[in-house]
Amino acid sequence: MAYPTDSIQLPRRSLGFLPTPVVELRTLARYLGGPRILMKRDDQTGLALGGNKVRKLEYLMGDALAQGADCVVTGGAVQSNHCRQTAAAAAVCGMACHLALGGSPPALLNGNLLLDSLLGATIHWSGDCRKGENIPQICAGLRQEGKKPYVIPYGGSNEIGAAGFVEAVREVAAQLGPDIAALSHVVFASSSGGTHAGLLLGKILYGLNFQVIGINIDKGESGERPLREHILDLANSTASHLGVSAAFSAEDVVLLDDYVGAGYAVIGDLEREAIKLTARHEGILLDPVYTGRAMGGLLDLIKKKAVNRSDTVLFWHTGGSPALFAYAEELSR
Ligand SMILES: Cc1ncc(COP(=O)(O)O)c(C=O)c1O
Repeated sequence: MAYPTDSIQLPRRSLGFLPTPVVELRTLARYLGGPRILMKRDDQTGLALGGNKVRKLEYLMGDALAQGADCVVTGGAVQSNHCRQTAAAAAVCGMACHLALGGSPPALLNGNLLLDSLLGATIHWSGDCRKGENIPQICAGLRQEGKKPYVIPYGGSNEIGAAGFVEAVREVAAQLGPDIAALSHVVFASSSGGTHAGLLLGKILYGLNFQVIGINIDKGESGERPLREHILDLANSTASHLGVSAAFSAEDVVLLDDYVGAGYAVIGDLEREAIKLTARHEGILLDPVYTGRAMGGLLDLIKKKAVNRSDTVLFWHTGGSPALFAYAEELSR
């Protein structure tokens, strides 16, 4: 099967080391007694310790530059990987970066927050707002100062950012060649929806058959729209934005809520066990908030035989390891 070589026709600023490797987790699979597990190493995208946001940011920063912006504004939780990667992307592009971070200043900077500061981002401490709810006020202030801000939405998840994961499907299909036909499932952490929406659209665009399974990371306590509705709308609006004919319906969005435990960034046994198992069998570090939870979900699906021994699963490692250091206490148990 031949895969299109053309990338998406949107402004793009190269930021990452792409393609990222695909590795096979042979030792872990042997320990589990199957299935075959591949891992897409987006923890190795290269920009300031990597992660999935680099793919979205290549298109978002491309758009910001095309619009003549002189600074970018985004938001997230205090240990946001998205914010750290945005700060790095802005630095490479010679732009200022403003981050609306949930909470209040801690006594000691660590994990992603330490990196935000090293990367030169301006932090706007935002109390209960951990999804960039106060970005409009920050932008209004910047405009008053004569600046030209470009807003990057929470998690980089709009039609432009999601295009990065449409392109990621093309990348992995080209990488695996005929072996892609053996893939039964792609499993990953889903939180702001852009990764999920992009993978859904990429799968249709490139005629692939695997099941796209998002492990929900966030209970959505702040009363916003249900994530699955957001993913569905984003998959459809990304298709329109890219001029692709694809229409998704609710049943296309497989988002498993079973692993959110006590909520966003509350680390429990599921995450701890998955992180240790992957580290000790493969020498690969997951993160406590996203990929640890998603791998915990995959291990449970294997245990429940929802994923069979004869299947081939691709686990998409979306990054996040800088946050390990911010959760030292929870992970030392
Ligand atoms: C490490 C990591 N994995 C997965 C995700 C979820 O990706 P998305 O926001 O596209 O759903 C994030 C989002 O912040 C992340 O930082």
